[in-house]
Amino acid sequence: MLETQALDIQKIRADFPILQRKVKGKRLVYLDSAATSQKPKAVIDAISDYYSRYNSNVHRSVHTLGEEATAAYEASRAKVASFVGAPAKSLVFVRGTTEATNLVRFAWGDKFVKPGDLLVTTMMEHHSNIVPWQLLAKSKRATLKFVGLNPDGTLDLSSLEALLKESPRLVAFTHCSNVLGTINDAAKFCSMAKRAGAVTVVDGAQAVPHIPVNLGAIDCDFYAFSGHKMLGPTGIGALVGRKELLEEMEPFHGGGEMIKEVFLDHSTWNAVPHKFEAGTVNIADSIGLGAAVDYLTSLGMPKVRDHEVKLLTYAARVLANVKGFTPYGPADPKRKAGVISFNLGDVHPHDLATILDDEGIAIRSGHHCAQPLMRWLGVAATSRASFNVYNSNDDVDALEAGLQKAGAIFGL
Ligand SMILES: Cc1ncc(COP(=O)(O)O)c(C=O)c1O
Repeated sequence: MLETQALDIQKIRADFPILQRKVKGKRLVYLDSAATSQKPKAVIDAISDYYSRYNSNVHRSVHTLGEEATAAYEASRAKVASFVGAPAKSLVFVRGTTEATNLVRFAWGDKFVKPGDLLVTTMMEHHSNIVPWQLLAKSKRATLKFVGLNPDGTLDLSSLEALLKESPRLVAFTHCSNVLGTINDAAKFCSMAKRAGAVTVVDGAQAVPHIPVNLGAIDCDFYAFSGHKMLGPTGIGALVGRKELLEEMEPFHGGGEMIKEVFLDHSTWNAVPHKFEAGTVNIADSIGLGAAVDYLTSLGMPKVRDHEVKLLTYAARVLANVKGFTPYGPADPKRKAGVISFNLGDVHPHDLATILDDEGIAIRSGHHCAQPLMRWLGVAATSRASFNVYNSNDDVDALEAGLQKAGAIFGL
């Protein structure tokens, strides 16, 4: 039974063409939105409309199509920036969170990190917020250290404080964990890191789709997120940077459109953010991301968050009935985003995901690109059910039934 909720889930589901399909003859129960979310028709239409009506390159041509494409691309930048409370000129379109952290690694790190510097990240990070810093530390002969975790899957503040005493050059952490769901107090951590003189990088890949984000209040130096996890297309995301820092940094890629003037022996750079958008940009998908932001805005992010807290609360109650169900991360739904990682007895997560797939239920199994966190949890892998605006209690009920069935097969 669907409860009366602030979001009209049946109406929302009708907006997502893929949710009308069946998998193995069953209703698709999509619980893998943390990997990538589904897309509403408005997003698909916005992309198709660009290619059908005004496909053209941006920032170059003075003809009508070129001007329409440029206007749509820049309007999308303004919408996406405003959605996270940032000025449009500080938002660089990138392929996604991974490209954003790598941009910081090269364009900021190469210039500002010196041998002997300390870089800090945490034990709950996605590999995209670990590996770029390992590479940077290696190339600069800097050191990388990790903030530890409390047993409940929250960040250990005393570990962060201890590392801040060593005056790190960079502090990078996730706003929401893609495994534990933990929501970190980004404003507090950034202010602590800033007082220690560090530049802050926040991975917002799992935050922007799920909670209202206001970068004005968080006050970080860099904030990264991916369009495809927030109902938008793949291949587009954003790096929001402090404008002065973006101006001081070196370019990331060299080529067309990122320059002001090119001479034989040197070049000068276009204004920020264009300095970081070399070559032909991903026009169609940036317009699609603008449509996703319109869609989320029309639902209202406080309502989206409220819906997910209710769903997490319901799921915690229902899934506790399943024998062998072991969840990871904070127990309090208010402290986490719509992600539930768990194991079922000693059933391998891949076997579980295969059994659930036969029921039309899509979950993720594996290390979730967070191997250091898996080691900390003492497991090789977990199963993960993750929510978005189209999920409701009936999806949780289906998951519970699927888990009961798997438990019976494996004799739990
Ligand atoms: C917390 C977190 N950070 C970063 C990423 C990387 O995002 P992308 O693959 O879109 O670059 C993900 C994707 O799963 C994620 O969940």
